[in-house]
Amino acid sequence: MMTTVVDHIGLLVTGDASLGEGPLGLLRNAAIVIDDGIVISLERAGAAADQRIDAGGRCVIPGFVDSHTHLVFAGDRGDEFAARMAGAAYAAGGIRTTVDATRAATDDQLTALTAGRREEALRAGITTVEIKSGYGLDTYHEERCLEIASSFTTDTTFLGAHLVPPGFEGRADDYVHLVCTDMLAAARPHARWIDAFCETGAFDADQCRAVLTAGKAAGLGARLHANQLGPGPGVQLAVELGCASADHCTHLTGADIDALAGSDTVATFLPAADFCTRQPYPDARRVIDAGASVALATNCNPGTSYTTSMSFCIALAVREMHMTIDEAIAAATSGGAGALRRTDVGRLSPGCRADMVMLDAPSYTHLVYRPGVPLIAATLVGGVPAMTLAR
Ligand code: NIG
Repeated sequence: MMTTVVDHIGLLVTGDASLGEGPLGLLRNAAIVIDDGIVISLERAGAAADQRIDAGGRCVIPGFVDSHTHLVFAGDRGDEFAARMAGAAYAAGGIRTTVDATRAATDDQLTALTAGRREEALRAGITTVEIKSGYGLDTYHEERCLEIASSFTTDTTFLGAHLVPPGFEGRADDYVHLVCTDMLAAARPHARWIDAFCETGAFDADQCRAVLTAGKAAGLGARLHANQLGPGPGVQLAVELGCASADHCTHLTGADIDALAGSDTVATFLPAADFCTRQPYPDARRVIDAGASVALATNCNPGTSYTTSMSFCIALAVREMHMTIDEAIAAATSGGAGALRRTDVGRLSPGCRADMVMLDAPSYTHLVYRPGVPLIAATLVGGVPAMTLAR
């Protein structure tokens, strides 16, 4: 047994209210003892171990759990973004541009692009990441994207139902049939989750129900893009199907909020997408006050949210969605873990993975108080500084 201690932590966010002060379970002048990548105990500063990493009085928080990303893609949509900032509206159809570029990329190119984004996310403090397919949209390319994704995470999501691809114009039901049969069979060995984009211009409720039901029958967990661009049936469908998460939740009715509050489905907010598409922000206050579980994720993708900065999402959630700073930190850590049905990440309590972020700041408050400033001093995965673990 070779133990490591992360010592001299000025302020430790354990993420477990039973371990310390307040909802985030805060400890001061603390140390984390780690064995084999797992937290074995939380001690006072100065604890003994075989190896020592000195936090120098910094604040340490659980690594961010990013439960919604689309990291496997090629191409650039900067021009589309610029046009939007000049007044153009966002439409789901922009996904096609990325499908063309992704299909044209070689395996090596696509793997290198994904690795670069994963490294960027590690530098931003993201220690657990979900990665979706969805820019292949035929059986060969969806399987290829999932194979690449699965070399970076176990939380891979089959999103064949992202958009009706070229060749299926006017035949959306035929495409849904393909997704539910051959494409699902090819995706299944590489995926943990199945997802669909329930939105005008993408797939309707019946089509999404068919896709998620087929995925569940094949043993995948379900999640759903819901209520992103306007009100719709997505959130209530996600609840009906027992999805782990309903993602976006930008346009919610009272009935949607009641449905979330009476369910185990996590409402995952993606405020960077709302920022980049000039959408309103979700009414997080009402959702939380109603008793629903919530998560925050980056939604890193080339169309609506080309960012790996969870700190930016946290700042938006507090400033624009009226979440408290404690709520936003919890949503980006244990909330994300809940959206992925994971109990081994998102907290720094004994038995959890020693995944953590050391902040160049005395408190996690600075993530919001100092917006846009690079405060991530180090990211540790399993107690090891992460940049050596990028692949
Ligand atoms: O989550 N909503 C669907 N998918 C992405 C957008 C994809 C794109 O425009 O390329 C999202 O925002």
